[in-house]
Parts: sequence; C-alpha cells; structure tokens
Amino acid sequence: MTTEKRKSQHIKICLEEDVQSKYNYLEDVSFIHSALPELNFDDIDTGIKIFGKNLSFPLFISAMTGGTEEAFKINKTLAKACQKTGIGLGLGSQRAMVEDSSLTYTYDVRKYAKDILLIGNIGLPQFVKGYSEKDAIFSVEEIKADMLAVHLNSLQEVSQPEGDLFFKEGLSLLKKLKEKLSFPLIVKETGAGVSKETAEKLSFLDGIDVAGLGGTSWSAVEYYRSKDHKETIKKLWNWGIPTPLSIAECRIAGIKTIIGSGGVRNGFDIAKCISLGATSCGIALPFLKSAVEEDVSGLVEKIETLKREFKIAMFLNSCQKVADLKTRPLMITGELKSMMDQRGMDFHYFNYR
Ligand SMILES: Cc1cc2nc3c(=O)[nH]c(=O)nc-3n(C[C@H](O)[C@H](O)[C@H](O)COP(=O)(O)O)c2cc1C
Repeated sequence: MTTEKRKSQHIKICLEEDVQSKYNYLEDVSFIHSALPELNFDDIDTGIKIFGKNLSFPLFISAMTGGTEEAFKINKTLAKACQKTGIGLGLGSQRAMVEDSSLTYTYDVRKYAKDILLIGNIGLPQFVKGYSEKDAIFSVEEIKADMLAVHLNSLQEVSQPEGDLFFKEGLSLLKKLKEKLSFPLIVKETGAGVSKETAEKLSFLDGIDVAGLGGTSWSAVEYYRSKDHKETIKKLWNWGIPTPLSIAECRIAGIKTIIGSGGVRNGFDIAKCISLGATSCGIALPFLKSAVEEDVSGLVEKIETLKREFKIAMFLNSCQKVADLKTRPLMITGELKSMMDQRGMDFHYFNYR
C-alpha cells in the first residue's frame, strides 16, 4: 500500500471510528480547591516561553500529517489557527518530503504562521535505516521550522502490516544527531508514553514529549486497517504508560522540558499536566475534524475555550503565573495511584507542597 493511501486511511479511521484508549488516567488527578485565590482573574498570565518562542498558553497541536494534498490543506489550516491563537504546531512525519522533495510544499506552512513555534518530525526507524543529520537539517531548514521531534512509535509500527521495525542503535544515533544539530532536538512517543528508565537515557536531548496512554491509541487505529493478526493487535489497544504517570517518570528522571500529551482533552487537563511537571502540552485528534474541514474559525474557538479553561484552573488554584501550578497540591487516586505506588513514587511530593 502506498504511504499516501495509508495516511488517508489513518485520517478516515481517526474521524469515523472509536480510537480512544479505554481510560484517561488524567481523571485520577485532581486539584485541592483554593477558596481564597487572592488574585484577580484578569491579572493571570497564561503565557510561557519554550524553545525560544512565546506561547499564549502552554499548548501545541501535536504532529499529525504531511505528504499529500489533503495533508497540505490540514497543515495550512492548523498553522493559521496557531498563528491567530499564539500556540505551537507539530508537523506530521516528513519522510514523504525527504524521499520526494516535490512534496515539501505539504509541510511548508511558515508563510501562514510567521511567529509560531513550528516543530518538524521524523521517525527513529528512518534514521536507523540510513537517514543522516543532512536529512534532519533539510526537514527543518527547508520549511523554516524551529526544531525537530524524532518520533518513537514502536507500538504503532508493530501493529501495522507494513511497519518499520528498526530501532537498533537508536540511542547512539540520537546522540550523534544531537551533537551535529544546531536547533533543539526532542523525542516524542505517539501514544504509549516514556518511562523513567528510557527518559534517563535520553536526558541529553532538549526535551521529551511523553505522548502517553489515555488518548488516541495507534493500535486501535491499526486494528481497523488490519486483516491479519487482528486479535493480537486488539490486545495492544491499551498498551502503554499513562500520560500523567509518564510525566511524573520524566520529572523524576530530571528531564527539564517535558511535553504532556496523549489524551489531553480540556484546559483542566493541561493544568494537571503542568502541575505534574510538564512545561507544555500537546493535543492531536480533537483538532483533526475542523482541520479536514479547513475551518480555521472553528479551530480558533476550540483553542480559545481550552485557554479559558486553563485560566480558570489557574484562578481556582490561586496561580498568577503558569509556573505556580507546579507548587500547588494534587490528589492522585484510582489506578494511577496504584501504578505510582508500584513505581515507588512519593505522593507526599504532590499532596503537601
Ligand atoms: C491522524 C494522526 C496522525 C498522526 N501522525 C503522527 C506523525 O506523523 N508523527 C508523530 O510523531 N505523531 C503522529 N500522531 C500522534 C500524535 O502526534 C499524538 O502523539 C497522539 O495522537 C496522542 O495525542 P492525542 O491523544 O491528543 O490524539 C498522529 C496522530 C493522529 C491522530
């Protein structure tokens, strides 16, 4: 099957089928209400600076697509909405433009979003199979992006019939890349999270996007496409490290810039991720429908709603600056509590700060 056909199948499945993991573990995180906020709502500053760029609040649209005419329309629509609202944008895998430079235009959205943080994207298997730093530089510089995310998607690759199952020596390849690139380099998962042990190995990078379990499940997406091994793929539907657990694991590993993503669905979720240790958040699937419909104003409305919810969360936690959220107490309950317990985490760090 051609990459183009596979990508349009992914988009169709994501729009028409249930591809969410069974449980969103951000439900197990709650704030301790501050009855005396001691600040005025309008004085709250939701802005942050990350990778050298200002965001109006801590959010990117996570990597989704590129390489086809439909993808170009999606990326253009997302870019316009990001420029209007002051948030960042991750582009989908740029493999298509590295292999056929005539497809570069499908990612080339800087002209629609001159100020935003724009993140390029290539899968680790491509580097294992022979891409070099030249391909990384081409992917970023050709479209005036600010940085590169290398995606780690072993769960997705193993779930798809045409998957690239090449991850050997990925760590040393990432180290070599980091030495040679002048722009920030991060890794991102695609829905299965990053553990403390993995994060420790990757601490030389400029950040980690956890893209944990709780939102879009790539095994679910591939389940709908698969003809062979359907039952095996179904068993992987809820495989992975829940997003809030993965953020806490990366924090303990000492990662300075953590992106909380995977199942972030409202502004309160964003506040929870920041409070757990993330610097910013990412959301993918909830933006796809409006992007396919080229509905910039619909996207702007969604993003403004997320921003207002995030600001309300800051107000009710008595936070004037985003960083204040990291000092507010949290309650951890349910399955997430049990998982954190088994991973030896100290709840008091969150409960009594
Ligand atoms: C249609 C679609 C295509 C995606 N393509 C990519 C991709 O090319 N590269 C990547 O790193 N992640 C890709 N992702 C994963 C997302 O960036 C994100 O990590 C994941 O969907 C979890 O976030 P969510 O629960 O908010 O959707 C894709 C997601 C969707 C929905």
